[in-house]
Amino acid sequence: MPDWQDTQQRYQERVNRLLEAHLSKLSEIAPTLKQAMQYGLLIGGKRIRPFLTYATGEMLGAKLSDLDPSAMAIECIHAFSLIHDDLPAMDDDDLRRGKPTCHIAFDEATAILAGDALQTLAFDILLNHELSSTAERNRLALLKTLTCATGYDGMCGGQAMDIDATGRVISLEQLEQLQKRKTGALIETTLKMAYLSSPVQSEEVEQSLAEYAQAIGLAFQVRDDILDVVSDTEILGKPQGSDIALNKSTYPDLLGLEGAQDFAQELYQQALQALASLPYNTQVLESFAGYIVNRNK
Ligand code: IPE
Ligand code: IPE
Ligand code: MG
Ligand code: MG
Ligand code: MG
Repeated sequence: MPDWQDTQQRYQERVNRLLEAHLSKLSEIAPTLKQAMQYGLLIGGKRIRPFLTYATGEMLGAKLSDLDPSAMAIECIHAFSLIHDDLPAMDDDDLRRGKPTCHIAFDEATAILAGDALQTLAFDILLNHELSSTAERNRLALLKTLTCATGYDGMCGGQAMDIDATGRVISLEQLEQLQKRKTGALIETTLKMAYLSSPVQSEEVEQSLAEYAQAIGLAFQVRDDILDVVSDTEILGKPQGSDIALNKSTYPDLLGLEGAQDFAQELYQQALQALASLPYNTQVLESFAGYIVNRNK
């Protein structure tokens, strides 16, 4: 069994190669827009969402080629969310992945359009990429899950709740609802897409994967909030203290640093529990849950 970090690198290289090739083939009809899309999508990024799609899919016996469109699409949506998240109207950050944010490197109009175009590119890929008959039977379900996770009741809804909660005190329950949409929805959908691209058809498996995804999705944002307090800009590649400067509602804000760390550990245990009921070798997903709550960037 290879070390999970080797596995992570293999998946990262695969999705990077595919995304680069896909973007390079886009016509030069609007060269600056294309450059901004390449900038926001291809430079840096841990690729944790594609990792989850590939790792879960392979565990369930899916073909890597059937997982490619989901892995590419989720990363396009993620890149779109980050480009818009950094805009002056939102978090107003000037550093992302160790480089000037898209609206600084280009301009605001181009960054807005690059985000928009990456969003539609995700659905274009999921609609048109070749799939084997196993995954093809679920193409509509793949589109549906990504649509829901991205939109009003998913990431966009969560971002709206985040903005609404800025500068005021909200309850722990409200914060959980916010984080589950803002970050959890896309992470949950990565596992759902892996399941839909695999030959497995089992409600129990789907349910356990959803429970694991919910736990690590929330843990991921809790850790992101903690890193905003304890890490530094150079390691993060984005401005440390951005949440504090904007008076954002975060877990360290509501629970204190130690309370937030304890909560992340609790979510880690929940994630392991969800995996325990699966009839597969879950070692990679177990290690990944540990990484989520202990990562330093
Ligand atoms: C950052 O996501 C935004 C959140 C949802 C917290 P990542 O930490 O996955 O960002 P990259 O892709 O590695 O830059
Ligand atoms: C943003 O959360 C999540 C999305 C982009 C949907 P944050 O605002 O905490 O992400 P960072 O810290 O800027 O990466
Ligand atoms: Mg934000
Ligand atoms: Mg932000
Ligand atoms: Mg953050």
